[in-house]
Amino acid sequence: MEPLEHNIETFEAYFLANLPVAPSFHPHYEEALQAMLKAGGKRFRPMLLLKVVEHLAPLLLEHALPVAASIEMMHTYSLIHDDLPAMDDSPLRRGHPTLHVSHDEVTAILIGDALNTHAFAVLASAPLSALVRIRLVEALAVSAGAGGMVLGQAIDCHFENQPLSLEALEFLHTNKTAKLIAASLKMGAIIANSGEEMEHALEAFGLKLGVLFQIQDDVIDATQTSQEAGKPTGNDGVKNSFTNLLGVKEALARRDGLATALCAEAQNIGGALGDDLARIVEMYFIKGM
Ligand code: IPE
Ligand code: IPE
Ligand code: MG
Ligand code: MG
Ligand code: MG
Repeated sequence: MEPLEHNIETFEAYFLANLPVAPSFHPHYEEALQAMLKAGGKRFRPMLLLKVVEHLAPLLLEHALPVAASIEMMHTYSLIHDDLPAMDDSPLRRGHPTLHVSHDEVTAILIGDALNTHAFAVLASAPLSALVRIRLVEALAVSAGAGGMVLGQAIDCHFENQPLSLEALEFLHTNKTAKLIAASLKMGAIIANSGEEMEHALEAFGLKLGVLFQIQDDVIDATQTSQEAGKPTGNDGVKNSFTNLLGVKEALARRDGLATALCAEAQNIGGALGDDLARIVEMYFIKGM
């Protein structure tokens, strides 16, 4: 993969300097609270949010950093819970042992809970107007919550070993992955105060980008080594994934088709932001693999 976007480096420095703290006499709570946040990851969602702000309201870039951090905390909580024995039962994440392995299941459940709620504490105290903050809280909660990522995860786990239709699979991927990715773009537009039309355009683009992202993730499971992926691969045997329902070849063809269509669609967003989003799609999904 090509070098990271420069805004990921800015984000990383901010994120690591502002990790949640909770000193107490608990022997490992605070260390576990920070462990998965420090463990890395692509920072794809913060990158998207900052990309939008960079183009639409560059003076607000610094003020957007806590918002990007809140999305990454929400995402990291979703990974910690996704890896739990009751869900995907995975021992490795971001190249590190998962919290239920390095510590115990109680720790993994509670650290997930803590990051989910802490995301909103960070968002609520971001240096932005009260109206913008409340709209950001809503966007994050709606995309990650009851009718978003959690719904997707519920369907993902409930329908293990029960093949879904392609339409249902797209619904699953839209909820478990695409809504948070779409929210990352939309939240950038909310910060930039760029109006309803731009918010909707970015959200619609983000939903497709998110499905593409999950197809890619399914392909990674089927084609990469665990070392390359930083998480176990060949692990989706019982899952409804694009590779399981269509086979790797057809999943790759869909990925390429969707990536090409999205590059063209980015032009509808217009301006330098549209160009940049097309470049990102190309870098992550066309040249990257
Ligand atoms: C993995 O997300 C889970 C999905 C929603 C596909 P990422 O691929 O963004 O994981 P990190 O953040 O880079 O570790
Ligand atoms: C998880 O999808 C999506 C989340 C909401 C965390 P996966 O279960 O495919 O993610 P990985 O492959 O474990 O990262
Ligand atoms: Mg899963
Ligand atoms: Mg998983
Ligand atoms: Mg996966």
